[in-house]
Formats: sequence, structure tokens, C-alpha cells
Amino acid sequence: MKYGNFSKDGLEFIITDPNTPRPWINYLTNENYCSVISQCAGGYSFYKDCRSDRITRWAPENYHYDRPGKYIYIKDNKTKKYWGATYQPVMAKPSKFESRHGLGYTTIKTNYYGIESEITYFVPLEDTCEIWLVKITNNSSKARDLTLVPYIEWLVGDYHMELRYRNIMNLYDRFWFDEESEVIFAKKTAIWEALNIQPFRSLAFFASSLGARGSATQKDVFVGRYKTETNPESISGDFIESGSCSGEDGIAALRHILRLNPGSTKEFVVVLGQTENRNKVIEMVSKYRDIGNAKAQLERVKKSWHDKIVDNVIIKTPDKDFDLIINIWVKYQIYICNMWSRSPSFYHEGAGGRGYRDSCQDVEGIMAFNPEHALSKIRTLAGLIRQDGSCAPGWSTTRGHAGYLPNKDHPIWLVYTVSAYVKETGNAAILFEKFPYMKDGWIKKATKKDIHWHKGVIKDGEGTLFEHLEKNLNFTFTDVGKRGLPLIGHADWNDAIDAAGKRLKGESVWLAMALVRSYKFLAELADLAGYAKKAQESRNRAKVMAERVNAHCWDGDWYVRGFTDFDTVYGSFKNREGKIFANTQSWAVLGGVVEGEKRNKMFKAVDKYLDGKHGIALFYPAYSNYDPKLGRITMFSEGTKENAAVFCHAATFMIVADCLAGRGNKAYESMKKIMPNNQKDMDLYKTEPYVYSEYLIGPEHPYRYGEGAFTWITGTAAWNFLAATEYLLGVHRELTGLRIDPVIPSYWKKCYMRRPFRGDVYEIVIKNPKGVERGVKNIKVDGIEQKHNLVRVRNDKKTHLVEVTLG
Ligand code: GLC
Repeated sequence: MKYGNFSKDGLEFIITDPNTPRPWINYLTNENYCSVISQCAGGYSFYKDCRSDRITRWAPENYHYDRPGKYIYIKDNKTKKYWGATYQPVMAKPSKFESRHGLGYTTIKTNYYGIESEITYFVPLEDTCEIWLVKITNNSSKARDLTLVPYIEWLVGDYHMELRYRNIMNLYDRFWFDEESEVIFAKKTAIWEALNIQPFRSLAFFASSLGARGSATQKDVFVGRYKTETNPESISGDFIESGSCSGEDGIAALRHILRLNPGSTKEFVVVLGQTENRNKVIEMVSKYRDIGNAKAQLERVKKSWHDKIVDNVIIKTPDKDFDLIINIWVKYQIYICNMWSRSPSFYHEGAGGRGYRDSCQDVEGIMAFNPEHALSKIRTLAGLIRQDGSCAPGWSTTRGHAGYLPNKDHPIWLVYTVSAYVKETGNAAILFEKFPYMKDGWIKKATKKDIHWHKGVIKDGEGTLFEHLEKNLNFTFTDVGKRGLPLIGHADWNDAIDAAGKRLKGESVWLAMALVRSYKFLAELADLAGYAKKAQESRNRAKVMAERVNAHCWDGDWYVRGFTDFDTVYGSFKNREGKIFANTQSWAVLGGVVEGEKRNKMFKAVDKYLDGKHGIALFYPAYSNYDPKLGRITMFSEGTKENAAVFCHAATFMIVADCLAGRGNKAYESMKKIMPNNQKDMDLYKTEPYVYSEYLIGPEHPYRYGEGAFTWITGTAAWNFLAATEYLLGVHRELTGLRIDPVIPSYWKKCYMRRPFRGDVYEIVIKNPKGVERGVKNIKVDGIEQKHNLVRVRNDKKTHLVEVTLG
């Protein structure tokens, strides 16, 4: 592959050319600290929340520049030549470059003028800091006198405030070098957001294990007039001290002097972080200044990721690339999504917090390999529900419940997650666990904020988890328009259909279908909880809603997408643009709303209008003009984001629908089209080949069809894992066991899944001698033939062989 390749064991992606078409990044993180880092050490760090506690600077346009970052300047004091140990920010040509993104660490190696440097960046398991383990080797035949300068640029504080009021925010900055501890400290005098002023409750810091022979904190002085990080005055010329910085842009740079004999190596550690107070900083810095300890912590990080990812659900198919992405990298991506939801990346706006609907899906994705994490998230999510069944759209560990207007689809998601949890673990007791309801001033079915409400978020009684889910769905079932379909309000799953229902009349067909699916899941849970009447009622409601969809939304060959406040239809053959949308076809199948001939017609239309060389587009044709009746969806340039991109999350809904319909060849082909490590032209695709992107630019873009965008934090990760394991290989978790119903490409002769389940391990071997796409002909468990395809859970902590023959 151009620019790099996976290591033999697949656990690292090794980039060999620093000039990748976009920064290719990694997340080094525990749940309280995160460092986002590119192949050349560009990126930023934050503490607890990527908006409220940004530590280092980042600017939204930087995915083109990949600056600033976590850099070390190296200078040969004799020749005066200087370079960046990670290629950036000096960008001199190295004689060797290698950047390895691994699970929980990134190692960047370069070679310049006989000096080899290797930096391994990682975030320890518990502490709120990042470590740069540095190794410098003199491979030349002469002794070398070097200056080494680790360098970062501070932001400290609220990222959004910084973006809006940069030149005011930096007036609150305080950075200083503390002679006694040789640590550079950083804070804002206080945090200011409109009229709300809060003390700055922590302290950021930067230190190294080498003695400092100088320090700099003033960017202006370090970089010099009309210069940049590429050629800073303090590196190209003499180092200029600036031990404290007050009320202006700040950096942290430490000056180290090193003499290296031929063949010798020097190791040292740089620590960057943020914590509560000075004492804690000193404690953390001392801990990691001990190189042996820093290395031991790195090993712990590697082991922890290995344990989380490598030996749980494993697939083996004839397609090694597919196995690699599902067995390793998509799980890693799912973890990052679970930790940070949709906020920090090189693309996203960094609003901080975690989203409700996104988390529900991320948690479903992680279920098969970390149900404990899933449970703790389910508990948090359950606490975001109001008595009327509406939800807060998200939460942040530093800023609490999100107070903005929620989208109408939020209430339908948690039931899937809880259902997956109960099926994965067999723990139905969770349904009876009590959770509080919350009240936060949103009234009238969460459409208006009570301006007299000053209590923040308070508890508003409590109920069981089952009751929370029931209220959730009741909300959507009763919040309907003239056809009895759910209102779309300020958007549903598609954030950008944000004007179609502003006046609370527009209806969402997709949401109706999703609700049908939700009620079916709730009915199963009700049965399990012993609520026979509620189960019946849920099934009735699913039926009623499905009937409404079929009565009002079938368009002849497919389902329409919705009706606006002005009662105009969209996603219909009657429309000039936006004639057919993927989501109301895929979810017609997911919700079990469509049957018989209609289903065939619908798939035919999907194949004809939406499927393309680079995957399934969100809809067709793209909007070319702003339509105030629909909203932002019509504003993006054709083929980008929600305006008819190949939106991978939605493409995967269709893949699941294909599987449910037995279209194994189609499902697999569609998966391959969006698979990051199956992209053939990296100069076209541009983004990381080891993680899914949110979308590929769609066919109607004038010149960028096939380009990847918004990588890492996307529901695509969770859904692809589910699509591959539960639907394609077809090992579905059920209340009493695993239902085996593979829907695979007809040309796969054999595949395999190792599936740990409730303490047992199931080794499932699927043979396909007749070349079919679906149909279990014969199934044996530990050599004994079964009459049906449900493998009952054995609960004996043993490994069981499941032999499946299709035909
Ligand atoms: C983004 C959001 C997700 C939303 C989707 C469609 O991926 O993270 O929540 O459903 O866009 O708008």
C-alpha cells in the first residue's frame, strides 16, 4: 500500500512516508486524558473533556497543516543544522522515516545526518498525562554535540472560547518555568464563559527527565518575528530564554544539551499533562522521570490493549483484510468511540462531551467484547431520561448533561443497547434496576426551555430501567403528526434534516420504522420481565406504526423519507433532487416493515440509484441548492457529509438489511467498498487505511468521489463490527444462546468464528460446499446434530465446537 503497511501481526500500522495525503492519526488515551497524534506527532491533548480542558493548541483548519504538535527539535551545535525528530515541524528530508501507530502508542523514528531518534508516545493507564519516551542514537563515526528542545504550544482552557475570542482568551494565560522542580506550569487565571466565571481548577505541566539548560514560554520570542515553528529563531539561532509568559500566546520549550559519542544512545522522558494541583504534578513528573518506570507503564498499556482486543471475538474468512479490520482495528476504533464519542479528532468541531444516540450505538458495538464497560455506559445513559421519555442529547464529565435541543430520535436507541446487553450476558435483572429520571427545564415534550428554570439538573423521581425504556418509546409513539408518524422536529438520525420539522408538523418515516424495530425489542424484554400485557401492547404498537408506514409512505418502488412542516414529501420520485434515501429502505427491513414484492422492488431501486463504485450513497440525487424546508442537508456541497455522501454509517445499515434479506454477495461487496484497508488509490481516498471514515465523498461531487473524511469517531465502527459478526457470519446473540444464520458471499467455501459467550467459548466452523448465500442445512454441537440453528448456551466455561453446513 502506498505510504505504509500493516505490520505482520497486524497490530501496528507502519507509515513510511511522512507526507500522507491527510494526517493519519492515533488516539493515545485513558478515559480521563487523551492525546490525538498524527504520523508526524501533530495533534493536541486534553484533560477529561476536549472542549472545556484543552491543553495544547489546535485549529480547525489544521488537518491540512498537521500543526502544532508534540515536537522535539534537534540541532547539531557544530554544523548548526537542525531538524524535527518527528519530521515536523521543520520538514527537512530524513534519510529514514517510520511512524508506527499501535494500540495505545505511537512510535516515530527518523534519521538525520547520522543521528537516529525514536520517540514513543503513550498515555499511562491511570494518570492524566502523556509520556514521550525518547531515544537518541549517534550512528555516525564522530562525537556529536546536540541541542534538544521538546516543544508544545499551550491552549489551556475552553477550546470553543479560544476559537471565538482568541486574543482575549490569551490575556488570561499564565505560564512559567519553576526553577526548583524544572517544570513548566500552565493555567488560565480563571475560566470565562459569557457571564459565568469559574476558577481554573487544575494545572497543566510540561517537564523532562533531562536537566534543563534553559526554558521558553513566550511564543513570540521563541519563534521570532515573521517566523513559524518551521524555522524558529530560538532554534535557527541562539536559544532565547523566556521563563514566564503572561497574557499572550504561550509555549513550553526546554533546552537540553547532549554530547553523544559514536554508537552511543541517550534515553530520556518528556511528560505533558494536567492534574489537580502542584503537589500532584510533582508526584506525576517524578514518577515518569524514572525511565524504568515509564517503560514499565508502556508495557502495561500495551498489555491492556492486547487483552481488550486480541483474544476475544475472532473471525477467519477467505479475506485476510476483512479479518484484520474486524479482529483488531475496528475493535480499537469502537473503544475510542466509546471513550470520546464524536468530539475530538482532526475533523470534528471539538464540542466536548458524549452524545446520547451515538453512545447507545457505540455501546452496542462493544457489547461482545466488553459487556462490563457497556453496563456502566447503560447506567449513565439511563440517567439522562426525563419522565416524559425524552432524553438529554448527551453529557460531559466536566460540564454535566447537555442542555441543547435534543433530536427526535434519541428515545428509540437505548432499547437496542439494553436488549443487546441482556442477550449478551443473560442478566435480565438489569431491567428492574432503578434509575432516576432527570429534570432540566426542558418542557412541552422537550421542545421548549422554561426560562424561569434555574435549578440545573435535578432528580425527578425514579423508575426501573424497563420503565425508562417504556417511557422512551411512548414518547415517540405519541409525539406524532397528522399521519400518525413521529415528528422529526429538529432532526432525526440525520442531523442535517434540521428544518423539515421545526414547526412540529413534519414527520419522519425513518423514525417510524426505527420505532417499529424498537417496540419489537421492547416486547422481547417485556416477555422476559414477565410483563405479558406490556409485551402484547408493544407488539400492537409496532404493528400500528408499520401499518401507517405502509399506508402513507410507499412510493411505488421505495419508501419516502419524510414529510415537511408544509406537508411536502421528500425522498419521493416526485422530487427533483433527494428522490430516494437509503435509510427508509434499510430500516424498512431492519424494522420488518416491508414484505414480499415490495421488498424486491425496493432493493432493485437501491441497487440502481444508490449503489456505486465506492459504496451506497445516503440518497440520490444530491441537493444542488439550499432548501429552507429541509435545512442543512441541502447546504453541503454535493456528495459531502449528509448531502448524498457514501455515509458509511448508513451504508452499513443497508449492509445489515442485505444480510437480513439473504443478500450475502451484495452485503460483503458493500462492506468491502467502505473498508479502509481495501482502498486501492490512497491518493484519492486520502484518510487512514486502518480505521473507518464517517463518509466517502459521494458520486455527485464534481471531482472528489471516493475521498474519505471525518475518520475515527463514527457509528460506522460499531455497525461494521455488528454487521460482520452478527449478520454476515450470522452469530446472533439471543436470550438463550447463539442463533447461527450466516449470510455470506456464495464464493466463500469456509469461515470461522471464535465467540466467547457468557463464560464459554464457541468455535463456529461454517462450511459452504454448495456455494449458497444463506441457509443452514446441518448443525452439530460437539459432534451432536441439532434440529434447529439455536446453539443453547452451555454455561460450563468450556470450549464447544459448532459445525455448520450451509446448503
Ligand atoms: C454523524 C453523527 C451521528 C448522526 C450522523 C448523521 O455521524 O455523529 O450522530 O446520526 O452524523 O447525521
